[in-house]
This record gives sequence, C-alpha cells and structure tokens, in this order.
Amino acid sequence: DEPRYRWRGMLLDCSRHFMSKDFVKRYIDLLAFHKMNVLHWHLTDDQGWRIEIKQFPRLTEVGAWRMEGDQRYGGFYTQDDVREIVAYAQSRNITIVPEIEMPGHSMAAVASYPELSCTGDPFEVGARWGVFDDVYCPGNDATFDFLEKVLSEVIDLFPSEFIHIGGDECPKTRWKSCPKCQARIHDEGLADERELQSYFIRRIERFLNSKGRRLIGWDEILEGGLAPNATVQSWRGLEGAIAAARSGHDVISSPTSHCYLDYAQFVAPDEPIRMGHLPLERVYSFEPTPADLTPEQAKHVLGAEGNLWSEHAPEERVDWQVFPRLCALSEVMWSPSRRDWTDFHGRLQTHYRRLDAMGVGYFIPPPGLASPIRVFTDAIDVKLTTSMDNTVVRYTTDGIDPTDESTVYRDPLHFAQTTTVKAKTFTVRGRSSPVAEYIFRRIVPLEPISNVETSAGLKYDYYEGKWEQIPDFDALTPAATGVIPTFDLGVHKLDEYYAVRYRGYFEALTDGVYTFYLMSDDGSRLWIGSDLVVDNDGLHGCSERSGQVILRAGRYPMVVGFFQADGVQSLEVQFEGPGMDKRPISASYLSHASVDR
Ligand code: ACM
Ligand code: ZN
Repeated sequence: DEPRYRWRGMLLDCSRHFMSKDFVKRYIDLLAFHKMNVLHWHLTDDQGWRIEIKQFPRLTEVGAWRMEGDQRYGGFYTQDDVREIVAYAQSRNITIVPEIEMPGHSMAAVASYPELSCTGDPFEVGARWGVFDDVYCPGNDATFDFLEKVLSEVIDLFPSEFIHIGGDECPKTRWKSCPKCQARIHDEGLADERELQSYFIRRIERFLNSKGRRLIGWDEILEGGLAPNATVQSWRGLEGAIAAARSGHDVISSPTSHCYLDYAQFVAPDEPIRMGHLPLERVYSFEPTPADLTPEQAKHVLGAEGNLWSEHAPEERVDWQVFPRLCALSEVMWSPSRRDWTDFHGRLQTHYRRLDAMGVGYFIPPPGLASPIRVFTDAIDVKLTTSMDNTVVRYTTDGIDPTDESTVYRDPLHFAQTTTVKAKTFTVRGRSSPVAEYIFRRIVPLEPISNVETSAGLKYDYYEGKWEQIPDFDALTPAATGVIPTFDLGVHKLDEYYAVRYRGYFEALTDGVYTFYLMSDDGSRLWIGSDLVVDNDGLHGCSERSGQVILRAGRYPMVVGFFQADGVQSLEVQFEGPGMDKRPISASYLSHASVDR
C-alpha cells in the first residue's frame, strides 16, 4: 500500500473564522488519521490577518479584528503558537503550507497599513464576504519591501518547501487609475494590469526562490504569464492544471466541482440546485489527474486538496462540512484511480463508528425517496430511504418537524390526498440529519389539444428592457419575433437587459408523470396550458428548479419565459418522462401552430 499522490491536502480557512490552537491540532490529528499529509493553512484574507509578524505589529493589533454588528470579532496565532502547531504537525507527518494572500484578498493588511494600497485611504478590516477592490499596490516598492519582510518571518516559522501566496480574485480597478501602478506598467514594458499581476507574482517568486522555497498560487497566477518556477493550484475547474502541467509546471487539483467542502451536501427537492452543491458521491468520483494530459505531463500533478472556506463555517460547523466528504477525498488521493462507490459506501458505515468514537460531528444525510415521482391522480405509495446503517427515520405528516418521538418509518406510506412529509434520520447516538420535506400532490392529468395544424419549431417573441422578474409579455411589444428549432438564446440581439417568450407545443409520447427542469441565469418560468409548472423566476445566478405534471400522450401548449439582466446569461430546458432519462427538450418534441389562433 502506497499513496498515489505525494500531496494530499486540505485547506483550513482560519481567516474568515478564527479557529483555536487546539482546534487546529485536532484537525491535524484527523488529517493524519486519514493518511493525508498537507494542511494548507489560509492565514490572511480580507476579513482577518491571523499570524503575528514581529516587524508589523498592526497586522494583528488592527488586522486580526473586524466588527460583526457592534461586536469585535477576531483572534490570531502568536509565533509561539505557530511553532507549537508546526511541531505538532511534523510529529504526525503533516506539512503545513501557510498561505499569505496577495495581491488581492488583502483588506486586513491594507487596513493595518493603508500606505500599502493604491489610494492610501483609511480602510476597515472586511466585515462582509466577497471580493474587495482595495488591494496591495504593485507600483510601490514599499509593498514588496513589506511582503518580503512578512515572508521572511513566515519562512522562519514554516519549514515547508512550498509557500502559498494566494493570487486569486484580484480586481484590477485600483491599479487602472493609480499613477504608481501605471508608471510600473510603463517602466517594466508591461502590456496591461494582467501583466502587472504577473510582474507581482514573479517578483515574489524570485524572493521565495532566493530563500530556497517554492511558490504556489491559485490558477489566476496564470494570467499575464506564469512565473518561471510556480506551482498552480487549480480551483476554477481543471483548465488551470492542464495549462500549467502542459507548460511543465507542477499542479494541485482542487476544483470547485469536487473539492469545495464549504458547498452544501444536501438540497431538498423544492429548493433550487445551484453550483454550490457537492454530494459525497461526486466527491468520491473525483479524478485529480486530467485525462487529457500525457503520462509525462501527468507527473506534474502532485496531488489534490479539499477546501474548507469558512465564511459560513465557524469552528462548530467545520466537522459537519468536512466529514464524511474528506473520507472520500482521502481515498481519492491515496488509492489508485480504480474506485468502487458501493464498496466505499459499505466501508463508510464502519468508518462512521470510528468518527463517532473520535467525536467528529459529521454530516448525517436526510432520508431520500426511492422514486422521484411526487404527483398522483388517485393514490401514491411512498418509500423513504436512508443511506446510513444503524439509523432510524422518523417522519410527520402534520407539517411539524420530526423529533426523536415522531413516528418511526417502517413500511411504505400510502396517501390518497395531497400530503407533506417531513422526515429526519436519527443515529443511535441521538444525532440527526436536517429535515427533508417532500410534498406529494394529488393532481388532475392535463388534457392534450386536438385538431391543430403544426409546423416544426418554436415561436419566440424578443423584448428589450431591464427586468428583475419575468414581465407580463402580453402588455409589451416585441422588438423581434421569429421561429427557431428549439430554445436558443444565441439568436437574440443583446447580451444584457432583454426577455424572451417561447411558445409552441410539447409532445408527450406516452401517458405518465413528466418532470420539467429549468436551469437559468437569470429568471425563467415554464407553463403547460395555463399551469405554471416550473417557477425559477427572479434575479439569480445559474440555478435549477423543477416541477411535475401528469400527461396523456399528445400535444400540449407550452410557454417558456426568460429574462436576462446583466452578467452571465443561460437557459436550459429539460424534461424526464416515463422510461426516459432527463434530457434537453430537443426540436423533435416541439412544434407550433401553423396558423396563429
Ligand atoms: C478561491 O476559492 N478563491 C481560491
Ligand atoms: Zn497602485
């Protein structure tokens, strides 16, 4: 038995929430227990600077504290604390890779020393989540002098070969209007602010290399040209890993799609599914080495990392976010690529008991449904499922959340009327899952239309304007109309501030329950006849909602409305029918009336 990868890491964000020395040591024990060997310790960010730097005391006098309402929140590790934690980790074969963020995510630093920013304005330590425009000024040599002194103290504390310098999500807004930054661009013969970011990272890399250390940064360090010896941690998919490995750089794979342990583990059926949803099974399916690398390039994949960003995870929430997904990741990082979900799932049942014995407050999955069908005409039999051994499922049908005294689920439930089931998983130790709420609706099957002449394609009406929800199309005059084979935003004129209504017929091939899905950014709605079947309206990023109806074979009038405000635009219309997997509604299911009625 030997590890597949030499870098088996987890990121712990102790900036957004400060975590005590004992808590960090406990995490080191948990990592070692799972045969992992890197703790990527995220120590600085907009919302808090957490490591004592002797030459710059304001970093921890000012930068370690933020206001939460009228409360001062924060904390930091003294250099003695750091030495103690590093020694503790070393004794358990864990390397701590410290991350000192630059040039972005640096509000806590510029709040402590405003002269390091472009404007020199006074700042507060970040008190909201997100990305801030005020960052280090690379036009100012004092910025590099400061960072070299900070990194020198960091290097003295951490024996790690690698020092992480962040590099992600740095807005170029201030640099564009800063005379010092513009002078730097001119003097160094740089093309633009992206190359200025590259200049920044290269200069820091030269310093780290001169001290015998290697630089690692997030995949944004590829922007404007990668520093000659840099290692890239790919988080926005694996494109960064592929590009870096192809040009001979080492990489760590930690894409949001499989490694972001701050994402939700469970989404109830009536809640929107956003990108930030990461179930255990998907984590287990992770392949850190991109298939399109040659064997030679693939050697640059040093390993992988799970990331626990802590905006929504103070200490008491961390176990729940991390476990059992880290168990899946640890197997991904240790074992050969051949993996078997059923086998892992079986072994996990034993592992839950080990985690119990260690007092780990892992996520408990709520009960699921054996069938996705939640609508019926006469009656329905409902089977609840659980994916954990040694648990009981308790449920209610009166709208009240289940307690440890609610009815225990044993046999399938039989409903002849619309019923809301609330169910929870309880472990023998008395811990429990979130509530899963499932509504089973008694509905009337819809009637197909008859005797219409149809032609291929959908009609669309395209409107220009600024909306925050689907407008009342009938009250508006379209800027364009036409017929297209199927839903396609590509034919419309603007990229922002428009709405479109698609009208036509959907053909159901057999009788049964149909599920319709709308994934959109921004809002969308789907009607069949006069029934609003899917409501995914409102200003939002890419998210999916669904709805179910009962159809007989035949044609149904279908309308899909969509609006786009600014930013990303997307619309995907899919369905699932009797014996048919989820699929896009392609042209073959669509038509429109040959004569307008
Ligand atoms: C990141 O999640 N901004 C690396
Ligand atoms: Zn500047």
